[in-house]
Amino acid sequence: MELCVALDLPTKQENLDLIHKIKDYDVWLKVGLRTYIRDGEDFLLAIKKINPDFKIFLDLKLYDIPNTMADAAESIMGLGVDMFNIHASAGKRAMKEVMERISSYENRPIVLAVTALTSFSEEEFCEVYEKSIATKADQFAKDAYDSGLDGVVCSAYESESIKNITSKEFMTLTPGIRPFGEDAGDQQRVADVEFALNAQVDFIVVGRPIYRAQNPATVVEKILKKL
Ligand code: C5P
Repeated sequence: MELCVALDLPTKQENLDLIHKIKDYDVWLKVGLRTYIRDGEDFLLAIKKINPDFKIFLDLKLYDIPNTMADAAESIMGLGVDMFNIHASAGKRAMKEVMERISSYENRPIVLAVTALTSFSEEEFCEVYEKSIATKADQFAKDAYDSGLDGVVCSAYESESIKNITSKEFMTLTPGIRPFGEDAGDQQRVADVEFALNAQVDFIVVGRPIYRAQNPATVVEKILKKL
């Protein structure tokens, strides 16, 4: 299991300060919407300058018509990131078109599909998708698997079932991790490191418990020891 640190701080400088603090650890860095919209490709280059071995997960959760998603995915190929994601609810045609478009690129990044956002409660989710989270997450994962994606973003609670209906090699990445039972914030379905390990999760994403800590490096080290 790998640790992916979410760079969700309010300014570029604060994110860079955090990266400097954890630069010697073997972790992935997650660049999300806020950071990418504000700091763009320059920020990705700045990460590699601090430590070229950092792997980058570009978390933009693409959702659009198939051709626009494939165009965007192709643009991502020029950024040198190691992983990016799209929404499974954009449909199988969109997912297939993305995978077809990038298939000819050498060392293409890992592509994941978002199933159910971990911030959804069961009730909120049902209002939008008219099915339970478990049912729909399985279905989205099966669609993503059939469309040739490498894995899904889901909660730790769905990881095992998703692997059972797809393949053990089909990756799961789970946000909403509170490594040692920290405050959940706006996340509804949180799990700790132990739970994620048992659920065969491939990547855990941790944001606030690391960047809000007095000493982020200590928290990273503590998590890595558990893995
Ligand atoms: O601070 P926290 O650990 O809750 O951060 C979780 C990160 O994972 C945030 O960057 C959030 O945008 C992202 N994320 C999520 N749920 C998803 C996909 C991504 O929380 N389904």
